[in-house]
Formats: sequence, C-alpha cells, structure tokens
Amino acid sequence: MLMRSGRLVPLFSRYGVVLLAALVVYFIVRSPVASRFSHSNVALGKGEDALGPNKIPAAQGEEGNGGAAAGNGGLAKIYKKPGERYAPIEDPFPWLTKHNKMPPILPNNLPPNPHVPEHTPLFIGFTRNWPMLLQCVCSYIAAGWPASDIYVVENTGTFRSNKDAELSLQNPFFLNHTQLRTLGVHVLMTPTLLNFAQLQNFYLHTSLQRGWEHFFWSHQDVIVFSDEEVRKKDRDHDHDHDPYATIYERAVGLLRYLNGPDMPAWATHFFAYDHLTLVNRDAMLDVGAWDTHIPFYASDCDMYLRLHWAGYWQPQSEAGLIFDVSVSLDDVGALFRLPGSHATFGGDAALEALIPERPGKEVELRQEQEMKSWVDKEGETYQHLVQVAGRMQEAKWVGRGAFRNSWQARQSGGEGEPFHHHPEGFEQGINMLIDAGRRVFAEKWGHRGCNLLELGIEGKDAWKLEKDWDAQSIPGEEGGDWGKDWMGV
Ligand SMILES: *[C@@H]1O[C@H](CO)[C@@H](O)[C@H](O)[C@H]1NC(C)=O
Repeated sequence: MLMRSGRLVPLFSRYGVVLLAALVVYFIVRSPVASRFSHSNVALGKGEDALGPNKIPAAQGEEGNGGAAAGNGGLAKIYKKPGERYAPIEDPFPWLTKHNKMPPILPNNLPPNPHVPEHTPLFIGFTRNWPMLLQCVCSYIAAGWPASDIYVVENTGTFRSNKDAELSLQNPFFLNHTQLRTLGVHVLMTPTLLNFAQLQNFYLHTSLQRGWEHFFWSHQDVIVFSDEEVRKKDRDHDHDHDPYATIYERAVGLLRYLNGPDMPAWATHFFAYDHLTLVNRDAMLDVGAWDTHIPFYASDCDMYLRLHWAGYWQPQSEAGLIFDVSVSLDDVGALFRLPGSHATFGGDAALEALIPERPGKEVELRQEQEMKSWVDKEGETYQHLVQVAGRMQEAKWVGRGAFRNSWQARQSGGEGEPFHHHPEGFEQGINMLIDAGRRVFAEKWGHRGCNLLELGIEGKDAWKLEKDWDAQSIPGEEGGDWGKDWMGV
C-alpha cells in the first residue's frame, strides 16, 4: 500500500531504513511465539476414530492465516488449523420424509391398548446429532414403547429455532419437530442449554409438575430391541398366547414388582447400567437431586452413591436388548423392518478390516449378501438387526473407546443459522467442563474416582475429607481411580 501511493514514495525513501529495521526486529521477537502457537493446535480431531466415515479433507487455510500482523499495535492473531470436516449427512429416514405417517409396528410389539394404569413416561435428552436421536426414538417405538409416552427433551440451547424450522439438517443442533410429531412423540424444550446434571433435574422438575412419581430416561446413543428370543431365559412367560414380552411390558412388570408389597425403598432400576433407567422421583428429591456442580461424568456416581448411602435400593436387570452405539444406521427405517430399508452403517467395512478374527464372520457376510433381495421385498429380520447393532456397539469401543463420543460431532454445517456454535469449539468446551466436573467430585469426596465405597467413604463426608493424592502436582481429573465405577468394579 505504501509503495503504490505516489505521494508516499519520498516519505518511504526517507524512513525506509528505519521501517525495515523495525520490521526485522518485529519478526525476530514474534517468531518464537508464533512457532509455539502453531505447534499447540490442540488435537481436536475427536471425530478421528478408526472408522472415520465420510471424512473429507479440511479446506486448507480457509481462515486466511496469510497476513499475520493484524495492524493492532503489532499483536498477531494466529488461526488454528481447521479441523476435520465430514461429508454432509443424508436424511436418516427417507421413508418417513416421503410418507409423512407412522410406520407399521410388528403386531406383537404394539403397546397395550388401553394404556396400562401406571404413568410410564420415557425422557430422551437431545443436544446434538439428529440421526442418532431418530434412531433411538424409532428403536423404542418399533420395540413396543408407546410413542405417546416418549418425551424427547430438546436441550439444544437454540430457543425456538427448531420448532420454527430455522435450522438445516447439517446443523449439529438440528431436530425435526414435525417428524417427531408424526411419530406420535412429544417434544419438551429446555429453556436454555443445560448440562447433564441439570437436565436430570429438569426431568425431576417435569415429573413433579406433571404428577409422575416414576419415570424412565434413556441415553440418546442407544438402540433397543424387544428380546424375541427371551423364552430361552423366561420360563414363566405364557408363550402360547404371547411369543415374547416386549421391552416395555417387561419394564412395566419391573415397576409393578418394585412397587409391590414388602419391597425395600428403591431409587432407581438400571437396565444395562443407566442406558435405560427407571427412576423413583421422590427418592432422588429426598437426597437433594443431582449436583449440578458436577456437570457431566462422575455426576452419576455422585447421585447414585448418595442414594446408596441414604439406604435406597438400586437393582438392575434386563428388559430387552440395549446396544450402546456411536453411529447411526444409514436408513433408520430398517428398525421398522420396512421393505427395502437395509440395516447398514458407515464404518462397518472398516470395522471388519480391524477385527478380522471374529468367529463366523465369513458365514455372516455371505448370509448378508444372500439376504439383500429378501430385505428388498420383506424387510429386515430380527436376527440381522441384532447382529448389526452388535457390530455398531463394537465400533464404539474400537481403539479402546478413545473416540467413543465422536458421534456427537458428525454434522459440521449450519453457519449463519440462529444460535450457531463452532462445532469443535462446542465439543472442546464440553470436554473442559467434563474435566472440571471431575475436579469438583475429587474435591468433594477427597478421591479421584467413583469407588468411594471401597474406601469406606460415606455421604456425611462430603467436602470434609483431605485429598488422598498429591494434589499439588496432579489435577483431580487425572489418573487415580477414574477407570473404576461406583459399584467397585
Ligand atoms: C422436517 O420434516 C418434514 C416432514 O417430513 C419435512 O417436510 C421437512 O422438510 C423437514 N425439515 C427439514 C429442515 O429437513
């Protein structure tokens, strides 16, 4: 700019040497700082799991790191390298978009009509990843949970944007209210973005408002099935009239059993730990509900331990098959066994390559090929769906589960839409809050880890114990017993 302006040329020749010297000094001072920053590009590639479906290379230099000196008194802004981008996601349930109606449900999985006398609401919290949510909701409906009992809790922090259809499918916080309504599911909205512990307290609050003494809640990253082969395990069931009890029927049975005569006071019932949980509202309220200073991980230990110390029973059993997954089916319609909807998922092939030694793999793959035309005409089979869900669960734990939550960061679009967050920044913020929550837990109980029972720690000890590790050199969220769970396993 200086060179081009004719009037400034003489000025430059006079002060040019001084200017040049200043620039040289500037770059010498700046360069060690710059190189330090350029190496500290935090490995944000959370989505970088071994399977990495549909990754496309990040646009290089899109933030324009070219001009380092920003003209603000010599301070340079240096942009991080842009992270991984994923290919745009596809409509996870094309049949629903096309037909705009409730898909058919297997006759044996239809919910009891009329409704059982008990309230049996099921909360499913949602922040990110619509395909995973839709998959979860559809699996509950297809397995026999009454759709009208399912309450998706939209916890996106995007106010009315989803309700008003202002977000696009590529936006991580996208949720289609219309489609959930078509499925017969309710959508509740949190007033602002809540952390996990706050969301749990919101469930308690809602059930107080609505007079529900018990409720169920489920993680959004699960696929459930009614166990159609349960007869092998359950001799009491009347198989002449009912081939199997659905996950819903068994969950209701459990609720009745727990509320039966001469039962101890109970607080929760776990189905596959807390992937699906039955909650006794007043027990939770009795011990002070969830500690919102422990926002994510370890808040469960804190809650369940306090219930345990207060003398509440927290049994567990099975009600059906529950798979903990981090990917979604390419076509969620497969769960309803719609003709032509195949149970496939991105990353399946890569998973196969990673686990070559699985017994029976060859046979399984050959059968899968042979079944393709059958599925086109008749829809998926129970056995194949369960097999595929098993592989999806396996995929979550490949690479020792280092990237087990990468499903939360699959959509990377939505720039310019209301309340948009930088997807990786959002992820990073949550990860930092997870760490902070563990630090609070460690401070509260004097120990890094949930295995407080092993150590004889009790509820009355909260905030009173000296820390049992060298807190000067190691922060509370690191090391210790964070790998152990509160039951002592
Ligand atoms: C939401 O679902 C409705 C009904 O299937 C559809 O018409 C609409 O396009 C969907 N919205 C978006 C943003 O995909």
